[in-house]
Amino acid sequence: MEDSLEIKTIAVLTSGGDSPGMNVAIRAVCKAAFAFGMSVYGVRRGYQGLINNDIFRLTSKEVGGIIDRGGTFLLSARCEDFRNVEGRAKAAENLKAHGIQGLIVIGGDGSYRGADMLYKEHGIKVIGLPGTIDNDISGTDFTIGFDTALNTILDAVSKIRDTATSHERTYIIEVMGRDAGYLALYACMAGGGDGLLIPERGYNIEEMGAHIAQRFENGKLHDIVICAEGVAPAEKVAEELKPYLTKKEQNEMRVTILGHVQRGGAPTAMDRILASKLGYYAVEMLAENQGGIMVGVESNKLVTYPISHAWKYKKHISEKDFEITMALAK
Ligand code: F6P
Repeated sequence: MEDSLEIKTIAVLTSGGDSPGMNVAIRAVCKAAFAFGMSVYGVRRGYQGLINNDIFRLTSKEVGGIIDRGGTFLLSARCEDFRNVEGRAKAAENLKAHGIQGLIVIGGDGSYRGADMLYKEHGIKVIGLPGTIDNDISGTDFTIGFDTALNTILDAVSKIRDTATSHERTYIIEVMGRDAGYLALYACMAGGGDGLLIPERGYNIEEMGAHIAQRFENGKLHDIVICAEGVAPAEKVAEELKPYLTKKEQNEMRVTILGHVQRGGAPTAMDRILASKLGYYAVEMLAENQGGIMVGVESNKLVTYPISHAWKYKKHISEKDFEITMALAK
């Protein structure tokens, strides 16, 4: 029975939007695999590389000098073909031809669904490793890349504040996060934001308008409003805020969309630590012949869940953190 076989050969790929720290995770996977006596293959361009048989042997040479590099040297992609039974069958055939028994998928929950199907349909031992700047994967407190993206946002917010104060302006800063408001929430808390719009709390422009008008009355002549892309485009927010503001405020309103700068850069210490721990732990789980799971860190403990946990259970922002952020944004 294949299930009792010792796993000696594994592969690793990165899938979906890249995030800073993915290289660190690949490095940790390789180094851990060597320590457990396994050989490792890298797959280029995520699932597309599995289908195209773009699979190559990784040695310590490939993972040297990458701990501080953003992006992913394995390249990443979103792959339509892998949604089909035929695509996954081709991928499994290529994996088996290389003798690969275990696969580590570094990416977001969209990438996990394909991984789960590969496990269920073809018995490849798959482990999901949470890599996305959005931090929207349940089963882990943080995802790889979130902390770096947050620090990039904070750097931008500080710089924008300099000009916002000089010109007494209101800035609407749009940050990434897809449907989740984690980046926006913590950027507001840590960046001293004066207003916050996140999808988890809905779009209430009247409330925001009243809030900014009140600040103006109180003598606060500049504002930094952090707007998650998932709630509304910042341009729309700026336009719809105008009726609540004085003529001066209306003229002095500006929009900054931070965009893909948030996905780049050297990973922070926190992301490097998280990626190193999760990369090692994923290999340890394969060494224990486990598959069909995701790894994460909760309350500073390494944990596993069935991979479907990532999409069956929605991750919720902390009520308390929201309350604190709003109280401090007055
Ligand atoms: O999921 C990561 C992310 O950066 C989101 O925050 C953002 O909405 C999306 O990817 C952007 O995707 P793309 O790089 O395909 O434009």
